[in-house]
Amino acid sequence: MKKIFNTDLSIKNINQEVELYGWISKKRNLGGMLFIDLRDRSGIIQLVVSPEKVFFEELSSLKNESVIKVSGRVIERSSKNPNLLTGDIEVEVFSLEVLNESLDTPFEVNNNTNASEETRLKYRYLDLRREDLCSKFITRHKICMIARNYLSDNHFLEVETPILCKSTPEGARDYLVPSRVNKNKFYALPQSPQIFKQLLMVSGFERYFQIAKCFRDEDLRADRQPEFTQIDMEMSFVTHDDVISVTEGLLQKLFKEIKGIDIKLPLERMSYKKAMDLYGSDKPDLRFDMKINDVTEMFKDTEFPMFKDCEIVNCLVVKNASDKFSRKDLDNLNLFVKKYKSTGVVYLKYNETLNGSIIKFMDLSVQNNLINALSLEENDLVLLSGGTYDIVKQSLGALRIKLGNDLGLINKNEYKMLWVVDFPMFEYDTEEKRYVALHHPFTKVKDSDIELLNIDPAKCLSDAYDIVINGYEAGGGSIRIHDKNLQSKIFEVIGLTEKEKNEKFGFLLEAFKYGTPPHGGLALGLDRLTMLLTNTENIRDVIAFPKTTSASCLMTDAPNYVDEDQLKDLYIKEVK
Ligand code: AMO
Repeated sequence: MKKIFNTDLSIKNINQEVELYGWISKKRNLGGMLFIDLRDRSGIIQLVVSPEKVFFEELSSLKNESVIKVSGRVIERSSKNPNLLTGDIEVEVFSLEVLNESLDTPFEVNNNTNASEETRLKYRYLDLRREDLCSKFITRHKICMIARNYLSDNHFLEVETPILCKSTPEGARDYLVPSRVNKNKFYALPQSPQIFKQLLMVSGFERYFQIAKCFRDEDLRADRQPEFTQIDMEMSFVTHDDVISVTEGLLQKLFKEIKGIDIKLPLERMSYKKAMDLYGSDKPDLRFDMKINDVTEMFKDTEFPMFKDCEIVNCLVVKNASDKFSRKDLDNLNLFVKKYKSTGVVYLKYNETLNGSIIKFMDLSVQNNLINALSLEENDLVLLSGGTYDIVKQSLGALRIKLGNDLGLINKNEYKMLWVVDFPMFEYDTEEKRYVALHHPFTKVKDSDIELLNIDPAKCLSDAYDIVINGYEAGGGSIRIHDKNLQSKIFEVIGLTEKEKNEKFGFLLEAFKYGTPPHGGLALGLDRLTMLLTNTENIRDVIAFPKTTSASCLMTDAPNYVDEDQLKDLYIKEVK
């Protein structure tokens, strides 16, 4: 039998006899009549039961969230509810079957629930009944369907790659799985299908995609989970413009079909350097226009102790806001930037003249230069910070986002997308005292910078690109190395010995000996994309059974201890 969803019914179905299944969401007794909000996945429909029905008492005493089947007739409502899709009608019930009685639920299942997230995660199956959460999974499903169809139409083949893999460094820590049949050996769960999709290009598949599960043991945040999903793709015989253009086409389709928003293509491209200089972030949020200003020149001879001999002095200008910040507020901003290793921010308020503790270290010409350079207007607030490039940019970048949020400068219904390009190929890891690949070590160095690999790796730029939406890194990719000598050289720069190269990546270097096409690709973070398209800032809202920030599942209690016998089978000894 075809299941009728509640919201399939409308005024067009008046007088029709229907059979409905669902959960009791709400009950009201009005003037002796029983009104029930029956919920199914599609939404709510009102049932009405008159007191003479034999099942009236039974239905009245059922608890919310019990599952019932009813038969009845669709009738027009006398008082309509414009907030409900089915608000013009109700169903007059003439038979009831109780399919499953519910106990009192640990929290009320409705959109306005005030239950803690902890309780909701413990009873996640109940939380998922809430319409505002369920609707996010409907959007997630649509994103997958649109992506599958779009990529298939563009000749991409959907191919699955292994979950039990070899541990290969990709940036984060691996999740390891001990092998029972291979004593003392471990599989690693894939941080992404990166190497496999490149090998599929060697196989001649030319265009691959996968909605792929990835696993990374890293510190979790509001937009980061230990297991997450990518819309992962790879293409042969392409330039980075080709990969960017296929991705833009997909984003355009997603935003049009899900949000009704027309995205103008091509999207803006910004170099990593410019993003860091102006926004202090490689994922700038362009929904508001507060840039970081470089005022190093003006303070180069300063005697102000905090700025004396600093590599750079930069500032943010908060327009027309100096009266909004009390001394205490400014102290809090100072504490905020210190979390980013900054020595602090110093403020200047502009009200006819500049005022602030630093002013006695600025002669009049410096003051005027600053006013002109920053085009200061009445009531502007200037927040200055000095130090090394990385710390000043990162701390002011974070402060910029905080101010954008606190002062309501961000239009939450707007989407601002851009590509960040021209990334450095390597960054220096001061703890490990070696270069590491900023993206991954399979990313191609720009042709013009190959010579620099031997001279100054820090100066090499890569052919990588990130798609940034509203300050989120929604995806990233690159043109890859397809030459075994260049790949070997990159491994060398990141500190791998010949032996390590062969142990870790011998199979890849071997594959590159047998006819490897030039190739490149990208992966979109499906979870982040769904967050953006459903307007939530919490990644747990778009993953059916997510983990907490300590990487545990409150519903199943994973991870957990296992039997000693299981450990024995795996040759593992517990350390107490
Ligand atoms: P990258 O590591 O940039 O690239 O990942 C691609 C995208 O995946 C999303 N993402 C995450 N989402 C949720 N939780 C996480 N822990 C998490 N980590 C990453 C982000 C990110 O932009 N193999 C390459 C892609 C390529 O080069 O083709 C890769 O994985 O949205």
